[in-house]
Amino acid sequence: MPTITFTNEKKEIQVPAGANLRKEALSAGVALYPGIHKIANCHGFGSCGSCRVLVTKGMENTSPRGIIEAARMAVSLAYIGNEGTMRLACQTKVNGDISVTTCPPLNLFGDNFFS
Ligand code: FES
Repeated sequence: MPTITFTNEKKEIQVPAGANLRKEALSAGVALYPGIHKIANCHGFGSCGSCRVLVTKGMENTSPRGIIEAARMAVSLAYIGNEGTMRLACQTKVNGDISVTTCPPLNLFGDNFFS
């Protein structure tokens, strides 16, 4: 069974292969949504972008990005500079061990924004 490590929360959970990252995080009591998005989110339809996470290890163990996720990320400033690690939890299936950082901050003035 794959293990998801939530680095901010210092929590590890085991999930069945193919499990949805959003559902497993919420079931484990991990705070996936920042601020007002705890209430105002799309509940897993991939349209609000508020469930974004950074997969810091094991990206190869996640499902590939689909059309909905790619379209949502294409209009998100948060995606800039995080193209290789950022995912929408609701659109991500877990097929192996991964490490996840929830509620990543915007990096508007970071090294990668203007490059
Ligand atoms: S819950 Fe809205 S995009 Fe994932």
